[in-house]
Amino acid sequence: MTQNNDVPRPTTRETPAPAAQEAPADGPGPSAEELASRGDSRSERPTNEAFRAFIAADWDETVPAAERREVADFTPARRDALVGELPATRMVLPAGVFKVRANDTDYPFRPDTGFVYFSGLGTDEEPDSVLVVEPDPDAAEGEPASRATYFFRPRAGFDSTEFYADARYGELWVGRRPTLEETAARIGIECRHIDELRDALAKDVGPQLSLAIVPGVDPGVQGMVEEIRSQNGLPDGEEQTREFDRLQEAASEQRLVKDDFEVSQMREAVKATIAGFEDVVAALPQAVGHRRGERVIEGVFGASARAEGNGVGYDTIAAAGNHACTLHWVRNDGMVSEGELVLIDAGVEVDSLYTADLTRTLPVSGTYSPAQRRVYEAVLEAADAAFAAARPGIRFRDLHTTAMQVIARHLEEWGMLPGTAEESLAPEGQFHRRWMVHGTSHHLGLDVHDCAQARREMYMDAELVPGMVFTIEPGLYFQENDLKVPEELRGIGVRIEDDVLVTEDGVENLSAALPRRPDEIEAWMGSLTPGR
Ligand code: GLY
Ligand code: MN
Ligand code: MN
Repeated sequence: MTQNNDVPRPTTRETPAPAAQEAPADGPGPSAEELASRGDSRSERPTNEAFRAFIAADWDETVPAAERREVADFTPARRDALVGELPATRMVLPAGVFKVRANDTDYPFRPDTGFVYFSGLGTDEEPDSVLVVEPDPDAAEGEPASRATYFFRPRAGFDSTEFYADARYGELWVGRRPTLEETAARIGIECRHIDELRDALAKDVGPQLSLAIVPGVDPGVQGMVEEIRSQNGLPDGEEQTREFDRLQEAASEQRLVKDDFEVSQMREAVKATIAGFEDVVAALPQAVGHRRGERVIEGVFGASARAEGNGVGYDTIAAAGNHACTLHWVRNDGMVSEGELVLIDAGVEVDSLYTADLTRTLPVSGTYSPAQRRVYEAVLEAADAAFAAARPGIRFRDLHTTAMQVIARHLEEWGMLPGTAEESLAPEGQFHRRWMVHGTSHHLGLDVHDCAQARREMYMDAELVPGMVFTIEPGLYFQENDLKVPEELRGIGVRIEDDVLVTEDGVENLSAALPRRPDEIEAWMGSLTPGR
């Protein structure tokens, strides 16, 4: 279906259409305005008054009752904690804007992670909207310390031009937006029209109340915030940047420890991902017969993810044979052949936008060869060592150190290191990293690489505490052209990735239901493809 751009597109704070950006300022050729309205060239929408009156009439205006979401019981504490980190600051968390894919076609909208976490909104909710969190001046001792207001464009009237003629926002084009009352009922936050945002942001801003925004999410709202700051005597330049970055950092660090709602969502995401892996194994015979078998695998997982959640949390890696040695192999255009391994790194993102991140490296024919098993078992031993070490009190970076001790020992045994494992593990060595250049773990949640703006002392150097969720994912990658690798191991890449939750005395493997030991994998694959 093509879009019928009868009205100028973005209506509030907008990105000009690409054609308009590229148009010459003057001189021969069409003007920027002419190019921006070229969508009209293919419009045959009636514009007469009788039509306008006709299309606006006789719609049932009933809005179904909106249910309060479970997450609404968790977001107040999150916002209170944020106010604790940045006292005396009005904090602006935009959902973000549509991103143009090409011409008048946008990418599916995915709200900013900080916005999602503090608002409780999720899939598709709500382009161009803004959450504002600030200290509650009326809070009594022991009461919640924060106040939140959510600004968005509510449903437009049936008598609006937008209703039928705006391909980006109109109800007849993209479905209806909620009313202010519906969203307030769902998320338990006072809702106001986006047109009231500027006045609300500016009110009382000055020496007693700063104004900060999560940077880089919505250029229009960021410009508004910067203007209000300057009009009210708040610093610009580096100091302003520092305040904005501090908000982003605090919003990121707060997600390092998950609350009960988040853990429940992670369990759902992992469960749906395991179902996706089962679907992939059942479909492996189709992949083997196809000239782009890797894409068959990607497609099967994607269909499963889309049916069970919002979709995938990141681009699926389906890497057969030597492709497994390319860490982020997402081109997925290769064949999948009997006798090879296929590395599948995939995660379902559920509607609340939490994602799993799991990897299994499977023998295409259902059985590992001795060489494949040798590499697989070395990686598994490294993962098991990290699992055994993981508990409250150890540092995040100790997970990697522990896994690397195992990896280096095996590489020494196979004669691949220039010296001993011990020499390699020393900071001035690190030769083993030639075959595993990535880290062993990263936090996981709303983002696949969650909490990415956290400071080093809060992430890599921090002690584990109950409620943290992260991956354990060592690997070994022996490129087929790597002359330092014994010939029989060349072209073998293995990663094993699980998602874990830190408990009081260790970790729970959230993905324990997905087989990870070679014998279990062979039996599991056999059960899903009987008669193969
Ligand atoms: N899927 C990306 C990663 O494992 O970090
Ligand atoms: Mn990962
Ligand atoms: Mn992964």
